[in-house]
Amino acid sequence: MPPLRIAPSILSADFGRLADEVARLTAAGADYIHVDVMDGHFVPNLTIGPPVVRALRRATHLPLDVHLMIERPEMWIERYAEAGADLIHVHAEACPHLHRVVQQIRSCGRRAVVALNPHTPLSVLDYVLEDLSMVLLMTVNPGFGGQSFIPQMLPKVRALRHLIASRGLQVDIEVDGGIKADNAAELVAAGANVLVAGSGIFDTPDWAATIAAMRKGAQALAR
Ligand code: DX5
Ligand code: ZN
Repeated sequence: MPPLRIAPSILSADFGRLADEVARLTAAGADYIHVDVMDGHFVPNLTIGPPVVRALRRATHLPLDVHLMIERPEMWIERYAEAGADLIHVHAEACPHLHRVVQQIRSCGRRAVVALNPHTPLSVLDYVLEDLSMVLLMTVNPGFGGQSFIPQMLPKVRALRHLIASRGLQVDIEVDGGIKADNAAELVAAGANVLVAGSGIFDTPDWAATIAAMRKGAQALAR
């Protein structure tokens, strides 16, 4: 199994104190900072753009995991890459020319990630999987933090891990939405190795303890 990474989502942060919040997450043991970009069209919510990603880049040494929940992401890839995104996600549902957009991310020297909404079948990955650093399986419908994990996503994670292994690839599986310390272990057992958590970390009093509990649960299952 590839190494476990915890990627707190700053969607749950205090946007007036983002640099402090990111410094606190870094000190609490986060591996990536997950940045949710929403355009008010692909999803019914509006969040942040490249200037904020640039400011985050100055606030942490951790990789910025930039989840673009936007229409026409091909218009924006270069700007997010220049702003300091390390991993750039596009939604398969937003890309009629998904293969081309994946190559565009790679040609900017960034790690390409394809995100799938809960209802989107894994078959859309068939001809791009080899070019991806990671696949993001949404475990809620995207747009908002604080929603409940959709249990039907567990077999989807298992099926994707099986597909990746059957092709002999090293592709990370990230899960996003409704992930907490108490369901992290079952997702890792199913094959996920990058866990996004917004409210599951921010709504707890001790972020370092919550991140440690997520790692511990996952390690216990690995034994
Ligand atoms: C949802 C976002 C998530 C969100 C997760 O559209 O992509 O990253 O912040 O929030 P929680 O962990 O609270 O479900
Ligand atoms: Zn996200």
